[in-house]
Amino acid sequence: MATLFDGLTIGDIKLKNRIIFAPMTRSRANDEGVQPDFVAEYYEQRVSGGLSITEATNVSPMAKGYVRTPGVYTPQQIESWKKVTERVHTKDGKIFMQLFHTGRIALPDFLPGNTSPVAPSAVKAAGENYTDDGMKEFVEPRELSVDEIAVIVQDFATAAKNAIEAGFDGVEIHGANGYLIQQFLSTNVNKRTDGYGGSIENRSKFLFEILDAVTEAIGSERTGLRLSPGGEFNDIKEDDAEELYKYVIAKLNDYGLAYLHIGTFDQNRDWHPVLSPLYSGVYFAGVGFDKDRAEKVLADGGADAIVFGKLFLANPDLPERFRQNAPLNTPDESTFYTPGEKGYTDYPFLEMAKAV
Ligand SMILES: Cc1cc2nc3c(=O)[nH]c(=O)nc-3n(C[C@H](O)[C@H](O)[C@H](O)COP(=O)(O)O)c2cc1C
Repeated sequence: MATLFDGLTIGDIKLKNRIIFAPMTRSRANDEGVQPDFVAEYYEQRVSGGLSITEATNVSPMAKGYVRTPGVYTPQQIESWKKVTERVHTKDGKIFMQLFHTGRIALPDFLPGNTSPVAPSAVKAAGENYTDDGMKEFVEPRELSVDEIAVIVQDFATAAKNAIEAGFDGVEIHGANGYLIQQFLSTNVNKRTDGYGGSIENRSKFLFEILDAVTEAIGSERTGLRLSPGGEFNDIKEDDAEELYKYVIAKLNDYGLAYLHIGTFDQNRDWHPVLSPLYSGVYFAGVGFDKDRAEKVLADGGADAIVFGKLFLANPDLPERFRQNAPLNTPDESTFYTPGEKGYTDYPFLEMAKAV
């Protein structure tokens, strides 16, 4: 019976516990997607988890959907990430970089030449996105050509190689939360009539092409994947979610990935008991976990490790607090995406909290 404090092997690396630091966009990079030095301190502070997964990182200039998000496609970006991996490894931590392309969620404000974002089909998302000039409505994206799809697949592979060059232990492909990969998986954004649209097999082709390219580039043992079945975040609909993800997971069983991370904002269903038994590799369960629920799911064999988001963001020493059943700091939503160190590197550790 596993506990949060047992070790776990993923690919070729050993995690010291099963408490995973969730990928979280924090918008502290500069306009060139380069991380400032204090980002290394933030990740170093949270090194006591078994594995940290970075904020979603842009694989190319066209991938950028949010202000001040980092990239991993220029030498300057790669250099800035090296400081993060060095600090984490010096403290005996393990860290994967999450890679994404936001597709139709990008606003022209973030894209080269203020061009239109791209998507499987020209279907605009309902809703708005944050810019420094205030909230702006999503725009109609341009449909990708087959040649452009091939370029994006290669962008993921190059970004994965760059992440390894920057010292990461591996990468997590972001197939969740309504970004480009889930736009292809969906039934409402993907209206294509070619080999990338229609059937479940066709809609998941883009995901598997990316996995093929990335695992070929850096090895399956260094590749993880996040999916969010049934999640409607960013205006996604999957009419056949159960069938779709059962198909995807059956196929993933042949990939030998480092792990599969399922974390979804589907309010109507707990997907972990449905999907975890179908997956033969290492299964990370995320979203909405506290210590009690995490321990129960691990004890029941419902997951191999648990991913914590807001609790870890606000408690850099979350594993120690869990060990001691200590009180937890409250996350400050007003500083989730603001520039600078406030609400970022200044959450108190346990001893500091006691000292005040
Ligand atoms: C500030 C913030 C930024 C986030 N950014 C990302 C992201 O970049 N990539 C991702 O996969 N999920 C992202 N998420 C979702 C988290 O990984 C996690 O699934 C979510 O916080 C729910 O888990 P929790 O209940 O433990 O907080 C973000 C969440 C928050 C609060």
